[in-house]
Amino acid sequence: MKKLYIETYGCQMNFADSEVVAAILKDLYDLTENIQEADLILLNTCSIRDKAEQRIHKRLQELEALKKKHRTLQVGLLGCMAERMQEELLQTEPVLNFIAGPDAYRDLPHLIEESANGDAKFNVLLSEEETYDNIMPVRYDLNGVSAYVSIMRGCNNFCTYCVVPYTRGRERSRSPQTIFMEVEQLLKDGYKEVTLLGQNVNSYLWEQDGQTMNFAQLMAAVAEMSPDLRVRFATSHPKDISDELIETIAKYDNICKYIHLPVQSGSDVMLKRMNRVYTREYYMGRVRKIKELMPDCAISTDIIAGFCGETLEDHEQTLSIMREVGYEYAYMFKYSERGGTMSAKRFKDDIPDEEKTRRLEEIIALQGELSLASNQRDVGKTFRVLIEGTSKRSADQLYGRNSQNKVIIFPKGNHQIGEYVDVTVTRCSPATLFADE
Ligand code: 5AD
Ligand code: SF4
Repeated sequence: MKKLYIETYGCQMNFADSEVVAAILKDLYDLTENIQEADLILLNTCSIRDKAEQRIHKRLQELEALKKKHRTLQVGLLGCMAERMQEELLQTEPVLNFIAGPDAYRDLPHLIEESANGDAKFNVLLSEEETYDNIMPVRYDLNGVSAYVSIMRGCNNFCTYCVVPYTRGRERSRSPQTIFMEVEQLLKDGYKEVTLLGQNVNSYLWEQDGQTMNFAQLMAAVAEMSPDLRVRFATSHPKDISDELIETIAKYDNICKYIHLPVQSGSDVMLKRMNRVYTREYYMGRVRKIKELMPDCAISTDIIAGFCGETLEDHEQTLSIMREVGYEYAYMFKYSERGGTMSAKRFKDDIPDEEKTRRLEEIIALQGELSLASNQRDVGKTFRVLIEGTSKRSADQLYGRNSQNKVIIFPKGNHQIGEYVDVTVTRCSPATLFADE
């Protein structure tokens, strides 16, 4: 059988999609981890920031050398960059045999065959229905403990800075039946944790024969499949994080006490300009509700520094909401203008790059303090950890995560990967908890 090598960039959705792609191609190709022996190389790409795209252009240049050595090698590009740049990409990147957008993966066998004679092909059609519903992903993460399950695709929110609604199309939910079947199979295969994935999982909605299922109900149903299974989810939009959802997370021991709740900015002026449709006060109300029902719940966020027209006062507001929430973790970015988005059309990208960097560094430094303070509060506490693997630093140490999604490193003893173990935290760094004996 021919060999397939997939490289995945960007978000968790892309990792889940690469597993769907591996499944679509499983009768034609075996996966390999050795790029040198590949007959087909696929890059699953991200367009969210310019830097992500620059990295791919560089990678494609590197692949040219490989293609010269291996004449029948085919190279395809998948994901958001395919959708954003369309056939223009085939002209600027001659190494590519074909490109396929996020809703065109069922067409891959056809694209591969059609482009084998040297004529570059593309399919970037978006769909209002495609959820790869009936496809059982091929898991190529090797830990066998934790898996992603995609429950919806696309986004309807149109935050003004974001390219995703254009590259991944309209929001659509996958049927609960196929989600349950996939989780059932994971349980049979010994998996212990699933992360329910979508750009905005809170707006999951399935309607059939007058019956509906929302995200809180779906997650409760998944949690009830096995008390031994941990359930996580990503990503939530603050506008749809309902009381019902918070109550459901609180009610089930096996739904993890960790919520990624991207705030983007602490300033109402910026939030409005970003079309986030909530205010700082509304966001803080949701945080208070979470903390009231689950004092031990960890909250993480995404933050954009230097959005169009951001004043120093707006930036201060971001620092102050970070302190007010006390985030456990944050993904922090400089604003990067993306062609075709509302902010590119309507607002000037007017914060100089050095100033964006300065603000970002302040945000990163503050988050470092907040993460360390949060970890220090955990010293002396006992947590149940799901063991994911052997520590990179020492074969005598294992690592896993607690419900709050924090990594804990502890001595191996007689423990096995995939087991739950209770450990007591003895010390910490800003990024990690340690439970030494
Ligand atoms: N520039 C910088 N960051 C962005 N994000 C999305 N679009 C942009 C952009 N144009 C960030 C947001 C989002 C995360 C996935 O990426 O914070 O939540
Ligand atoms: Fe982009 Fe906003 Fe949709 Fe997230 S919710 S994918 S930031 S448009």
